[in-house]
Amino acid sequence: MYDDLSAGHRHAVERVQRALATSTTGAGTVELVVGGLHETSALVDLFVERGVTAVMHFAASASVGDSVSDPASYYHNNVVGTLSVLAAMQRAGVKRFIFSSTCAIFGEPVETPIGEDHPQRPVNPYGESKLTVERALPHFERAYNMQWMALRYFNAAGADPEGWLGEDHSPEQHLIPRAIAAARGGDPLVLFGDDYETPDGTCLRDYIHVGDLATAHLCALQALEAGHASAAYNLGNGRPHSVREVIAVVEEVVGQPVAARLGPRRAGDPAVLYAANRSIQEGLGWRPRVVDLRTIVEDAWRWHEAHPHGYDT
Ligand SMILES: NC(=O)c1ccc[n+]([C@@H]2O[C@H](COP(=O)([O-])OP(=O)(O)OC[C@H]3O[C@@H](n4cnc5c(N)ncnc54)[C@H](O)[C@@H]3O)[C@@H](O)[C@H]2O)c1
Repeated sequence: MYDDLSAGHRHAVERVQRALATSTTGAGTVELVVGGLHETSALVDLFVERGVTAVMHFAASASVGDSVSDPASYYHNNVVGTLSVLAAMQRAGVKRFIFSSTCAIFGEPVETPIGEDHPQRPVNPYGESKLTVERALPHFERAYNMQWMALRYFNAAGADPEGWLGEDHSPEQHLIPRAIAAARGGDPLVLFGDDYETPDGTCLRDYIHVGDLATAHLCALQALEAGHASAAYNLGNGRPHSVREVIAVVEEVVGQPVAARLGPRRAGDPAVLYAANRSIQEGLGWRPRVVDLRTIVEDAWRWHEAHPHGYDT
């Protein structure tokens, strides 16, 4: 694992190390190397020293709002940083790349559910930065014989069911952890508009369990190893849920009301966003294990209840 810890947590890796040490499944080990995406030579050395054969590239700046106010840093981290990783792979002879892309590459949906052939018109620098990388990948394949998969996540949510790993962002911008925090007496949740053309007026989104997201990465790598062509897949649960539905489920699971107040709509927030996931199911043999919102919220709650101050508790 390679991360500069700008938003990541050393304790998260230590937990995985402890879990693997006591595991009876024969799973391997994980090591944390602290470093930045732009340190190309360090990456080359690392890839060569460790005999790396594939890279799963999750590291990025990932806030839509921040990307609008500071596009330069988003292009620098997500585009230049990723090109540095790809350059290091090329120099070290690493041939397989799994890329964390996003549904933000599509922009305002013209139809839902969103399939792979949906027009790609990002409306913010975050989406543009990911699409720029996606567009580079076929060129790297042609020139350097580098195989790739781009997985366009919808809303990653939940936590690992054993309670080792959960969400700890600062500031937290994701709905489920924010609703959980509000239910525990933290800041009230701000509802960004309730006059959308949806059944209850709030936005509909696709929440995919982080465990299903992880499994999809393994399926993608195994598919490349088995000769599957490079490809981009939309990766979502395939079921839309409204903000109010999420709040209701959080209230049920936590057993407390979620304090919420109404705010204005956010610019660039489409009313409905959810994935068509038939392609990835057929192409990679992946299936979402957790399809119901309640299990996603229960797993998230188990982690937040045990870690009220995140990884440092
Ligand atoms: N969370 C979601 O709902 C979601 C949705 C779509 C796509 N994604 C993508 O999934 C990936 C992971 O997202 P996340 O929500 O876990 O974000 P996150 O911010 O929790 O994790 C990103 C990680 O990248 C590291 N990082 C950032 N810049 C780095 C750099 N220059 N060098 C080294 N490490 C660096 C951070 O320290 C952090 O550990 C991102 O690529 C994001 O764009 C996430």
